[in-house]
Amino acid sequence: MHETIKAVRLEHIREAESESRKLFTLSNAEITCAFHESFPEYQPTPLINLANLAHELGVNSFYVKDESYRFGLNAFKSLGGSFCLGKYIAEKLECNISELSYEKITSPDIKSKLGEITFVTATDGNHGRGIAWAANRLGHKAVVYMPSGTVAERLNNIRKLGADASITEFNYDNTVRFAAESAKKFNWVLVQDTSWPGYEKIPGWIMQGYLTMALESVQQLEGVVPTHIFLQAGVGSMAGALAAFFADYYRDNKPLITIIEPNKADCIYRTARANDGTLHTVKGSMSTIMAGLACGEPCTIAWDMLRRYAEVYISMPDYVAAKGMRILGNPSGSDTRIISGESGASTSGFVCELMQNESLDYLRELIKIDSDSKILCFSTEGDTDRKNYYNIVWDGLYPSF
Ligand SMILES: Cc1ncc(COP(=O)(O)O)c(C=O)c1O
Repeated sequence: MHETIKAVRLEHIREAESESRKLFTLSNAEITCAFHESFPEYQPTPLINLANLAHELGVNSFYVKDESYRFGLNAFKSLGGSFCLGKYIAEKLECNISELSYEKITSPDIKSKLGEITFVTATDGNHGRGIAWAANRLGHKAVVYMPSGTVAERLNNIRKLGADASITEFNYDNTVRFAAESAKKFNWVLVQDTSWPGYEKIPGWIMQGYLTMALESVQQLEGVVPTHIFLQAGVGSMAGALAAFFADYYRDNKPLITIIEPNKADCIYRTARANDGTLHTVKGSMSTIMAGLACGEPCTIAWDMLRRYAEVYISMPDYVAAKGMRILGNPSGSDTRIISGESGASTSGFVCELMQNESLDYLRELIKIDSDSKILCFSTEGDTDRKNYYNIVWDGLYPSF
């Protein structure tokens, strides 16, 4: 194994408040959660206390939030898609999102006021499935573009929800550009889960949507304050929103936040390492098993939050995520089993590697992790590519069931 884990620690400097921070406060998280609770399918996803794994690794506790249960869609991403559609509809109706619910939005009166809206997006899978689901549930249309190399299972899962989904010949970042051009051309609404200068309102709403997952986790922790939170990043929207939320929620007691990326798509790690006030990108096909994290251009709002609230940035090889999938799927003793996909298991896999690999002393020191540490990770997806899930955990075999 020639590829290594790379890390950088960013010292935070005191600087002027960012306007975006206000998007991710506790009060906004409560508004988001109330909206999600109005969907008939809503249920909080479980927070699993892996007590035996914590013991094996020599840390105080190890909690994993299992997002495979989210709205029956096998990933957390529908939180952002549904909330952003709700916010868009609230704006059209000139009312506040707090006045809207699933029932109101789908009522004949509101439907006739709105007509049929077409939402368009680019996705590696999970975000597009979330948008397709939300558009379908709220009675609108979704067009979804996917990068070349997308597996058929992910495409079909989106089509099953009634969306017009197709695979392009582009990589992820160029698929985003294609979706943006199509929105202009056909007068569709672009609902992209990443921001760039001049396109920030809708990505900000999507990021706010992810706060339900964070709010549920602090409630489920019942007063236990984590010392370390690990967040995986593609464009960084989820990690940026959650890092800002945890900073607001825990204030002086903020856990140390570590961002995890695949080394083939480590745009946020590169941006943190350079720390020169510009965003650094990764170009090309970005071949990694962590499909959800294969993004080469950071989200602008997300980086603004991460550089203020996340301390450590990791770029790591695929085998670390594969290790996380195997460990979570084969728990120790009475620990609960978690089916976690490649991107979902990346953070837990990193914590296991960090605690088990003797050559990583310097990194344990950098992250300040020890036997008193209380860890929180998010398994952001289940087996969204079942064939690859088994290829990895069964080491090349795919069972015939
Ligand atoms: C399962 C999973 N985890 C994490 C992420 C990362 O989210 P973001 O692109 O907001 O960084 C994604 C993105 O699609 C994903 O699908």
